[in-house]
Amino acid sequence: MQRIRLTDELTFSRIVYGMWRLGDDADTSEGHVRAKIEACLEQGITTMDQADIYGDYGAEEILGRALTPELRDRIEIVTKCGIVAPAGRYADRRVKHYDTSSAHIRASIDHSLRLMGIDRIDLLLIHRPDPLMDHAETGAALDAAVESGKVRAVGVSNFRPHDWTLLQSAMDTPLVTNQIEMSLCHTAPFTDGDLAFLQEQGVAPMAWSPLGGGRLMRPGTEGGGLFDALSAVAEAQGVDPGAVAVAWLLAHPAKIMPVMGTNALERIATLGTALKVEMDRQTWFALYTHALGHEVP
Ligand SMILES: NC(=O)c1ccc[n+]([C@@H]2O[C@H](COP(=O)([O-])OP(=O)(O)OC[C@H]3O[C@@H](n4cnc5c(N)ncnc54)[C@H](OP(=O)(O)O)[C@@H]3O)[C@@H](O)[C@H]2O)c1
Repeated sequence: MQRIRLTDELTFSRIVYGMWRLGDDADTSEGHVRAKIEACLEQGITTMDQADIYGDYGAEEILGRALTPELRDRIEIVTKCGIVAPAGRYADRRVKHYDTSSAHIRASIDHSLRLMGIDRIDLLLIHRPDPLMDHAETGAALDAAVESGKVRAVGVSNFRPHDWTLLQSAMDTPLVTNQIEMSLCHTAPFTDGDLAFLQEQGVAPMAWSPLGGGRLMRPGTEGGGLFDALSAVAEAQGVDPGAVAVAWLLAHPAKIMPVMGTNALERIATLGTALKVEMDRQTWFALYTHALGHEVP
């Protein structure tokens, strides 16, 4: 498995396992969660993506119950904060909102550490750009989080370039990634400057919902014969269509780290095959053409 360098001391596996849907699985037992992590580790997938809000603020606890000290030391844990929805510990809030205040970030970090039973988060992301973000306050809070040792590195998610520049301008610590939606269902970042900006920053992005949350894997849900095109490439190379969709992201020079969300053990066990898919320029453009619904101009 390839590794991506985020800081001098922190590297991630090229493919990341996402835990948004962890609580949706019929089996959330410690043994089953551990089996999923072990299936990742067998392929060299060591990076696990969490967020405080996943599973109505419950997914971190599900992971925490499954972690042994030995297992924790074999993985990198990403988590996020900043979304406050009226659920779980925020059940009394009137409206879903964002909170990037220093007090909220500090409290979220402490909740995440406690729920996962760990003493350090490897990467903390601000989950969404907050229209009320006071960049000086948020930036100082992120610097302080790293300084405190509770967080090894910080980054953002769903930020546009101007959101990134504003926050970074108020920080000493470098932001190390932006986790954004990217897939053959969501190709805008390839041309709207978002990906180009991250390349210019020398930052490898993480791609959420790389299979479009499963839409790409259901024949007929994406127009333009995309599923059939993915299946044809998959058949020729002896892999499944999902591996081809992921390989399409991996082929981009920005060093995209796809964050895979399957709960199915048998799918987890083959996530690494995406790295073996050959994706030449014409195959890449053929899939892109299907995604766009027309050939490139
Ligand atoms: N930063 C953000 O704002 C943000 C937003 C969304 C997600 N994320 C992160 O990204 C991760 C991945 O998101 P995602 O779960 O939407 O990713 P995804 O990998 O695009 O989609 C996973 C879904 O696709 C289904 N699927 C996968 N392979 C399939 C197949 N061959 N046939 C049918 N269905 C298939 C899975 O069902 P099975 O479980 O049955 O395989 C699952 O429901 C999340 O866990 C989270 O960590 C971040």
